[in-house]
Amino acid sequence: MAQKTLLTGRVLSFEHSPFKTQPDQAVRLHEAVLIEGGKIQELGSTADLQTAHPEAAIHHHGENLILAGFIDPHVHYPQTAMIASWGKRLIDWLNTYTFPEEMKFGNADYAAEISNRYLDLTAAHGTTTMCSFCTIHPESVDAFFTAAQQRGQRVVAGKTCMDRNAPEDLRDTAQTAYDQSKALIEKWQGVDRISYAITPRFSPTSTAEQLEAMGALWAEHPDCLMQTHLSEQTDEIEWVRSLFPEARDYLDTYEKFGLLGANGLYGHVIHLEPRERDRLREVDASLIHCPTSNTFIGSGLFDLHGLMRDGHRIGLATDTGGGSSFSMLRTMAAAYEIGQLRGHPLHPAQLLWLGTAGSARSLRMDDRIGNIAPGMEADLIVLDLASTPAIAQREANAESLWEAVFPTIMMGDDRAIADVWIGGRRVST
Ligand code: GUN
Ligand code: ZN
Repeated sequence: MAQKTLLTGRVLSFEHSPFKTQPDQAVRLHEAVLIEGGKIQELGSTADLQTAHPEAAIHHHGENLILAGFIDPHVHYPQTAMIASWGKRLIDWLNTYTFPEEMKFGNADYAAEISNRYLDLTAAHGTTTMCSFCTIHPESVDAFFTAAQQRGQRVVAGKTCMDRNAPEDLRDTAQTAYDQSKALIEKWQGVDRISYAITPRFSPTSTAEQLEAMGALWAEHPDCLMQTHLSEQTDEIEWVRSLFPEARDYLDTYEKFGLLGANGLYGHVIHLEPRERDRLREVDASLIHCPTSNTFIGSGLFDLHGLMRDGHRIGLATDTGGGSSFSMLRTMAAAYEIGQLRGHPLHPAQLLWLGTAGSARSLRMDDRIGNIAPGMEADLIVLDLASTPAIAQREANAESLWEAVFPTIMMGDDRAIADVWIGGRRVST
């Protein structure tokens, strides 16, 4: 029989989206959660669960908050070792810092080293699932999936395809991008907790032929996610216009090649035209907000309020290493600050929802991860709401749960992550 584990603390689960309901009605607090066989079995009072399951191993977490592990739906794990590189905007940043680092991933040992380093760092920050770009090298995908598989982790990733406007060593072709991506899908899609995302980097680094090949591959594997970038910087949009003069707008460079769909994840989406907003909404695509990246690379302010109001599906992501952090707490803080600049402060419940259930929804995995409810996979974190003296002295004055949580959202980092469970197994971080 599988080992039963009882975690006690303040177990927070979402019953509704706090974008649709008052925050206090959106959440429910429980005293304890029982996990068994990698799944969440039951929520309830400590006394009831202990009586019903006397054989369960107990971990008491006092006043700490137990919530679903953070989900990061747009990252570049190969950019781990060049995060926080100074002074460039998108295109120069890619050419100066990103491409030279990504060239190293043809070496399987290096890819394995960075995969493990990245998964160690993110687990320490409480992130249990992510959707990552890899590099053009199939080795970079094998390394990442192998590392995640060893940890029992639910991850999504794909080979980043580029056949122009990148150094020669980082270019594939329409045909090799198709063949290698297809082979990786056949090897990995649905193995253990692994999913494949078809990954054209962005229109400027793909020819029309390559985008067409990616669209054909997606049509053959519609169960796969497809991830890319869209409308991140104004100079980039100008460049796309010059490369695809016949396209109606940036989104059209994907749409006309079959790369617009419900299983599509579009990173950044800051400077959208009305037609682009409408089409993304019509197909119910996922828009991924990357706030630390958008400020760090100087891209702009995502319209979270307007897009949520219009019913878009939205996830929250670090975009490591264009993003300046591995931490989803820091990412929530940046989303809050951008909300303030746009005149719409996000409630702490909305920030926590975006980093868990909302991001799971953006990956179309909200039936399995991103919340604490019976039947969901047991990816959980324990948040210490007084992890540093600065946070603790503020939290001590809190008069509500939300006042107690908000200082950790704004000022917390990996020190706030007291414990992490992935697939029902405790991870030492
Ligand atoms: N657009 C194309 N590639 C990238 C990347 O690696 N990071 C970011 N932030 N934007 C991109
Ligand atoms: Zn990105």
